[in-house]
Amino acid sequence: MTRHFRTLVDLEPDELVALIGRARELKRLRGTAAHPRPLEGKAVVIALEKASTRTRVSFEVGIAELGAQPITLISSSTQMGRGEPIEDTARMLSAYCHGVVYRTFGHDRVEAMCRAATVPVINGLSETYHPCQLLADLQTVQESFGRLEGLRVAWIGDGNNMAHSWILAAAQVGLELVLACPEGYEPDDAVLERARAIGRGSVSVVREPAQAAEGSHVVTTDVWASMGHEAETRARAAAFAAYQVDAALMARARPEAIFLHCLPAHRGEEVAADVIDGPASRVWAEAENRLHAQKALLEHLIAG
Ligand code: CP
Ligand code: NVA
Repeated sequence: MTRHFRTLVDLEPDELVALIGRARELKRLRGTAAHPRPLEGKAVVIALEKASTRTRVSFEVGIAELGAQPITLISSSTQMGRGEPIEDTARMLSAYCHGVVYRTFGHDRVEAMCRAATVPVINGLSETYHPCQLLADLQTVQESFGRLEGLRVAWIGDGNNMAHSWILAAAQVGLELVLACPEGYEPDDAVLERARAIGRGSVSVVREPAQAAEGSHVVTTDVWASMGHEAETRARAAAFAAYQVDAALMARARPEAIFLHCLPAHRGEEVAADVIDGPASRVWAEAENRLHAQKALLEHLIAG
């Protein structure tokens, strides 16, 4: 059966932990003769309906390092951008390629791609989830603390695709996740229910950033207006004004706490420059880990 990666729940918890271990191994092996090329002779397409820097480059490089050919499609220059059905695109891409990385708007489009594709589909970001980013984030947390289970994570800001992915990560690896969100920007109840049904870790939603940050190992945030929400930028700036991760908020966290951000970041909005560019920030390791974590994912799903 073809396996897809729509959300973190598409991996069993022990598979997810093993995959992060493999990502760390591939990081060590990079550039050595021992680095594997399990996708030799294959091709993987990266279909983008939204802008991307990290996802595009980390997948292109990672696919090539595993021995396969990366093919990037920018929606506006394809027939998808002119309305060709996702299902037709999925069938045709499955004939040419051995995997599809898909970045899109509604998560239903990822589901439609998965239903019609006969090769693994990887969600490269949808309106509801960004699971590839969480692979890298969990790897970065592992590298910093040597473990995942039991760590306390503070999410500050929008209950968006990144927040949803942290919620499923908490349930999969047993984190204590506290999200501080302004009224009207809380995560979807369905995602919270999904995590609670898994039963590991804990997830709670509070209003005060300080309450979330208190005693945290990890403090993380994201832009106030995600792709597709640009028209709401002004209203969101007002709603999120008290939700900046600054030095005072970081001081509530543990002394060894780290700061993560999926990037791109807006200094002076969701994060103060002295935090993202300061000693607690792990954002560059986090961005680099996209490459290693996705290579582990591609190897697992495509090479089997
Ligand atoms: N974090 C992330 O997905 O970055 P890009 O939008 O640049 O791919
Ligand atoms: N929440 C952001 C993440 C970008 C990587 C967005 O969807 O635009």
